[in-house]
Amino acid sequence: MEFSTTLIHWYNQNKRNLPWRRTTDPYKIWLSEVILQQTRVNQGLPYYQAFVENFPTVFDLAFAEEQKVLKLWQGLGYYSRARNLHYTAKYIVENYEGVFPTAYKELLKLKGVGSYTAAAIASFSSNEPVAVVDGNVFRVLARIFNIEYDISKTTSKSYFFDFALALMDVKFASDFNQAIMEFGALQCIPKNPNCEMCVFNEKCEALRLNKVNELPIKLKK
Ligand code: ADE
Repeated sequence: MEFSTTLIHWYNQNKRNLPWRRTTDPYKIWLSEVILQQTRVNQGLPYYQAFVENFPTVFDLAFAEEQKVLKLWQGLGYYSRARNLHYTAKYIVENYEGVFPTAYKELLKLKGVGSYTAAAIASFSSNEPVAVVDGNVFRVLARIFNIEYDISKTTSKSYFFDFALALMDVKFASDFNQAIMEFGALQCIPKNPNCEMCVFNEKCEALRLNKVNELPIKLKK
């Protein structure tokens, strides 16, 4: 619990003010996560605003013209994401009466929703205790706990998933997940992080062993 408490405390003092953190609507969280899948936060922000304004509910997106969806997506690239978005909105209207699912297992069935996105939506919308595992999470955990698994292997993901879950205070699943991603984005950055200023510098195994720039291990590109 100590790790989780320190992390969430850091998060509350350092987090960026991002609009998708002020909602528990699974539809809006899904929009934000699909937009952010291959896109930086600053680039994704105006797109998120535009989608929420033009399509405030899953019904609005489902009944929109494909051309309008693709037009709003212009500039983000990877148009399959926009097509999946539209497809999934229609699927949810037809199969879930427009009630966006919040359970991890249910979310995994949706097109374009993998384990990362499902965990993000489930935890941020309903605090379900499932761990998000993305590049930030690999880096933060590999460094602090000196985890030497090769993150390019698919089996590593489930190792980190379980590892993160064991660290999580399940009462704060949502904050824990947001916090660990934010910590990776702002503090435990890929190159030359400022470890002198880090709340984990007395605990971090990579720092102690002088391996910060070598972790996480990624053998294949
Ligand atoms: N990148 C992907 N999901 C994010 C989130 N919820 N907050 C900040 N950056 C993100």
